[in-house]
Amino acid sequence: MRHVRTSWRPWLSRGLTFAALAIFLAACSGENYPQSTLHPKGDFAEKVDALFQTTMFWATIIFVLVEGALLWAIFKFRGHPDDPEPKQVHGNTLIEIIWTAIPAMVLAFVAVPTVRTIFETAEIPETTAETGEPIKVEVIGHQWWWEFRYPDLGITTANELHVPIGRTIDLRMKTVDVLHSFWIPQFAGKRDVFPNRETRIWFTARETGAYPGACAEFCGLQHGKMLFYVMVAEQAEFDSWVALRQADTAAAAIRPPAPATDSLAPAAASEDPMVAQGRQLFMTKACVGCHSLGSAGAPTASIGPNLGGIATRRMIAAGWLENTDENLAHWIQNPEQFKEGTLMKVGPINDAEAQALVAFLRTRQ
Ligand code: CUA
Repeated sequence: MRHVRTSWRPWLSRGLTFAALAIFLAACSGENYPQSTLHPKGDFAEKVDALFQTTMFWATIIFVLVEGALLWAIFKFRGHPDDPEPKQVHGNTLIEIIWTAIPAMVLAFVAVPTVRTIFETAEIPETTAETGEPIKVEVIGHQWWWEFRYPDLGITTANELHVPIGRTIDLRMKTVDVLHSFWIPQFAGKRDVFPNRETRIWFTARETGAYPGACAEFCGLQHGKMLFYVMVAEQAEFDSWVALRQADTAAAAIRPPAPATDSLAPAAASEDPMVAQGRQLFMTKACVGCHSLGSAGAPTASIGPNLGGIATRRMIAAGWLENTDENLAHWIQNPEQFKEGTLMKVGPINDAEAQALVAFLRTRQ
């Protein structure tokens, strides 16, 4: 009886361990971790993924063959305590040639698709009727946020890269401070971003949605909070976003509440007093010194993130905080509490003032 109990127990515990591991690994599905290269949503990432899958397929076969041969040899030639000492040898030229030649052949075999993928992804694809002219976007890395400029559309935004589905996006990147690395796992590989040299990457999105991106090069204390989103929309939706941004560019200048006769400005009489107070605070609390409210962008890189359309953004603080009134108020009052070392320095702002600023920023649709 005792013998039976000791034989099944280890198997039960092993079985339970494997079951627990399987459940644990199930948590690693694409939905829980969208920031994964294993779920490509664009042509560039699909090419890289195809290379990974090909390499992985052959590597698995080689692994099984090599480990199988190893296990076979271990069991077949295992020693016993009273075995005589085995025959001593000093090298075997034939075997050494074989175990040098086979890995060399494997490497050559893997090099072909690798080099082909490098060439295929190095150059922006030819313009076709389907993809149209590529949309140029200038990416500027800052400690610790991302600026996106669309030179042909005359708009600038921050931490949210809006693109239409099916169009090639041509990204030209640089930084105003230290090295960063631009990475949208589901669309393209990582690419380093330098202060004195432009690097480029491109992608064509195949599915609409919001996709996370990140900085992938250590760039200081808040490197881990240098995030952004790629918002992929149908062409018509993208066009209306562009129209909205171009319109707020035109209306960007902060005007004092104008007389009601000025049809371009909000009517002074009907403006929410809290919004008016927020507008006033925006100018007097130094916010305006770093943040532009329109989407035009200055000729040079911005100091702080552009706030054109801030009310409609998904996140604030470079992809770190959900864009809720509460988070925005806390961020305005004490950004240091969320991002130690941030360049955003604010004087004392009380709760009522923070709420007024939030009310004003919520008008920037
Ligand atoms: Cu920018 Cu890490």
